[in-house]
Amino acid sequence: MKTFYITTPIYYPSGKFHIGSAYTTCLCDTLKRYKILQGYDSYFLTGNDEHGQKIEEVAKKNNMTPQESVDYYAKLSQDLWKNLKITNDDFIRTTERRHETVVEDIFEKLLANDDVYLGEYTGNYCVSCETYFTKTQLLEGDKCPDCGSDTKLLKEETYFLRLGKYQDRLLKFIEDNPDFIVPETRKNEVVQFIKSGLNDLSVSRTAFSWGVKVKSNPAHVVYVWIDALSNYLTALGYGSKNDALYQKYWVNGDEVIHVVGKDILRFHAIYWPIMLMALNIPIKFRLFAHGWYLMKDSKISKSKGNVIYPEQLTEKFGLDAFRYYIVRELTYGNDGSFSPQDYVARINTDLVNDFGNLVSRTISMVNKYFGGKVSKKAHNHEYKKFEEELENVAQEVFTNYQTNMDEFKVAAALQEVSVLVKRTNKLIDDTFPWELAKDNAKSDVLESVMYHLLESIRLINIMYLPILIDSAPKVFAMLNIESINQNFCSMHFGIKPAYQVVEKPEHLFPRLDQEKEELVIKTMMEQNKAPQVEVEEPEKIEILPEITIDDFAKVDIRVGKVLEGKAHPDAKKLLVFTINTGDKVRTIVSGIAQDYKPEDLVGKNVLVICNLKPVKLRGIISEGMILAGEEKSGKLHVIEAAKEMKPGDKIS
Ligand code: ME8
Repeated sequence: MKTFYITTPIYYPSGKFHIGSAYTTCLCDTLKRYKILQGYDSYFLTGNDEHGQKIEEVAKKNNMTPQESVDYYAKLSQDLWKNLKITNDDFIRTTERRHETVVEDIFEKLLANDDVYLGEYTGNYCVSCETYFTKTQLLEGDKCPDCGSDTKLLKEETYFLRLGKYQDRLLKFIEDNPDFIVPETRKNEVVQFIKSGLNDLSVSRTAFSWGVKVKSNPAHVVYVWIDALSNYLTALGYGSKNDALYQKYWVNGDEVIHVVGKDILRFHAIYWPIMLMALNIPIKFRLFAHGWYLMKDSKISKSKGNVIYPEQLTEKFGLDAFRYYIVRELTYGNDGSFSPQDYVARINTDLVNDFGNLVSRTISMVNKYFGGKVSKKAHNHEYKKFEEELENVAQEVFTNYQTNMDEFKVAAALQEVSVLVKRTNKLIDDTFPWELAKDNAKSDVLESVMYHLLESIRLINIMYLPILIDSAPKVFAMLNIESINQNFCSMHFGIKPAYQVVEKPEHLFPRLDQEKEELVIKTMMEQNKAPQVEVEEPEKIEILPEITIDDFAKVDIRVGKVLEGKAHPDAKKLLVFTINTGDKVRTIVSGIAQDYKPEDLVGKNVLVICNLKPVKLRGIISEGMILAGEEKSGKLHVIEAAKEMKPGDKIS
């Protein structure tokens, strides 16, 4: 039996999982179920990534120890996967000893082979991404180029993994294995990145302690990505006494697929294969990088009030509807958006109107016209053409369905199934069964049409098995289809000689009121909004380069009393003031005419920079500068000193 090993990324337990994380897991579960139907021995791994500074900080925020915090989220996520009927064979947590001991050994092995060496790192670190960036990679304001968060400038002793050493070997590997990274566009991005040159990667941290300690130097914690990526092997028992799963699914395995979001492709496509090369482990895996669920083009975010949790949707609209929508809506490798409107419409169109209706209509007609029992009839009637067309479409759809599923194009595969559903419904429109029923002589023709509808539903339902995990078995039950006719080997029209269906069809998908249900989802999202103190979004303010107190002391700011003000004879924007600054009476030209009349400041105590080099402004020499503040709109406000202050009093 061929083997298939599929993994999700291990998730950061830093909050409740929203539909984004559920997408990856449902996608993997769908593919695993599909592979089982294809006859593979399949193994599916998911889990949580429980180490690192980010997790330490989440725990602090939750007033918990890191262990308490990861335990709490581990339970939450395992419960979620159970509710979504995810069939993972294992759930790995990086805080488990079975994982930690192997990570310790992996690190020592890399050190012993000189693939890891001790050095010093200076760079800007993003805690959220657990990654260092160089100055040139940062966005304006030293923000992280991946997530936009603030970065911290850190300098620390660190171990480095020699990436450069493996650069050419990795490029050659990618070239020799054209399907190593799909979609192609993502592969091209990775190749581009590698070609631009790989710097050695910092793979240990000393600034915090929540992680796997380096065995030979416990002041260092193993970089969270080295720790995390290893999960794909430690869960199989690699490096332990019992490595049977590792031997079976990895070393001697046929297919290994890591499904990852596009955001973490680089780690999987560069660091992971290089780690394996350094450890002398065969690179057996392929990568499928999928896109993201966005909310009206922006990231899912609690504060924006656009979060929706899987359990809210499954409780209200059922598990199958959720699983169907989530893998149907994101097309191959692309981003897509979740919207309440699309959610309701997708269920109503594909599941209620097209599939659910076909099943219940067919069962009702078979009962009405034949007491629930029909058999295969010879093809020699006027509607033969339509039936044959349907048979051909069914075979074509199944071929396309498999091709798409094999290439991780689940949405496209489902679109194919919809083609067959529509074509099957069309057989009813083409043959008018209610007319045929009026003529006793047409009974065989009607029976043949009914048989074709049932066979088509059987084939559709087999293709739906990996997705409609509750409804597909119900359909088989309603049609009394034995298990031998529920698999890919039976995907041929006419295999089942006769049908005996139930008397009353069970309603599979209740029709949804578009407007009402849309509003229900919108309200859920609104309720999920994080309770917020009204804090204005921090603005992008560009602060000038740092100065010392000595630099500041060079600026001589004093109180000045305005004696006189007049308009500048040659410049509309300028006013000319006579100001007593204690040492002397000065002429100061100021660009505040847009907001002040000349007389406005007379008698007021203002702040004046007295040691500014005099400049000529439109013919008048200005001997200093009045300090003013500027609103975002550009409106100016001259800064006044307290009334009791005297000309010449110093400001510091
Ligand atoms: O990156 N749409 O964990 P993570 C689609 N621990 N997928 C989404 C998504 C969205 N809006 N949001 C998240 C990590 N995901 C690391 C991985 S693996 C050795 C270590 C999915 O919890 C997507 O697959 O931040 C993303 O890559 C994954 O959740 C993990 O995100």
